[in-house]
Amino acid sequence: MKNTISIQYDTERVSDLTFPADSPATLLGMGAAIENLYQAAASINIQIVTLPTHPFGLSNPIYFKAEIIDANSTVKFSDTVLPLFTRHTNRFSYFLKSIPQSNIKVLKNLTLPSISIDIMEQRPQINKIAQLVYSASCIRFRTRETNEWLAKSLRFGKQTIDSGDGLDIDTLDVPPGGTLFLHLIGHWKILKWLNRIGVYRFMSWIDSRPIKKAPALIAITGPMGFEHYLNAGRVIERVWIYLNEQGIAVHPYYVVSDQINRLHENKVPEELRQPAQRVSAGSKQVFDLQDNETLYMLLRVGYPKKKAKRSKRLPLEDLFAVHI
Ligand SMILES: Cc1cc2nc3c(=O)[nH]c(=O)nc-3n(C[C@H](O)[C@H](O)[C@H](O)COP(=O)(O)O)c2cc1C
Repeated sequence: MKNTISIQYDTERVSDLTFPADSPATLLGMGAAIENLYQAAASINIQIVTLPTHPFGLSNPIYFKAEIIDANSTVKFSDTVLPLFTRHTNRFSYFLKSIPQSNIKVLKNLTLPSISIDIMEQRPQINKIAQLVYSASCIRFRTRETNEWLAKSLRFGKQTIDSGDGLDIDTLDVPPGGTLFLHLIGHWKILKWLNRIGVYRFMSWIDSRPIKKAPALIAITGPMGFEHYLNAGRVIERVWIYLNEQGIAVHPYYVVSDQINRLHENKVPEELRQPAQRVSAGSKQVFDLQDNETLYMLLRVGYPKKKAKRSKRLPLEDLFAVHI
């Protein structure tokens, strides 16, 4: 019998806690997991050969399936410290120092068919992107669903240690008093009331400021569609791992992509559709996209001023199952 490995959506564990199984965000995450698998296998001389999958229509969609060709590798996994295990998000400030050209050259070669990696370092272009992030963020903070989703994923203090998932508040660059404020605006009634005096603008200004001050941004773009999203996730992970290996920090920004996707999925509230359409049109112009193309992810990159706290990981037994 063949030894196979697959990556699938765990409906029972994650439904209602994260993005749906077929959403672009999930597919990007799955692409990243696939890339991790390839890099881990290569490090211990195991070859994996992709098998066809039928992702949807199943209660737990399978995104990736592969045959393990040489399971008798003598290299022990624990013997190798893989760069993929040191990849992490850094949401703190970065120095203005540029990314060396030699790194940019390598980055461009990390791509897969149809996926583009564009590095932006010119101030006028960075300012335009910061404006897009601000506008998308304004929609986010005025939308009940996206706000409650963020509130649900935030973990404060001891809760983090106990759960091991979600977004640890200490990994965010929150100013003094910010934690309490985030707690408060997690209640939609409070945020809705505060939005009447423009709090969403203040929150979006905070959200977009690091983009405006970034030494460089990377846009990962390309066509829409299942395979393309998986490949884009792989490319994002490759770029991220490579940059972190070089001591360059990475902070992903999904807010622009998310609002564009929500617009396509008819999830943007009626009164916010016009600003969302402007974000979508603006992103086409700034990122030079064709009609069938999209922005998968925006990355803020640079040399970090501060080491970031690392996110916890769920125990392996919650994520991995062996079937004989
Ligand atoms: C599809 C996707 C979208 C994400 N969007 C954001 C984002 O908009 N802002 C952010 O700070 N982190 C974002 N993240 C990063 C995750 O929050 C982060 O990877 C996770 O908390 C684990 O932390 P680590 O990257 O340090 O391992 C995103 C990750 C994925 C896969």
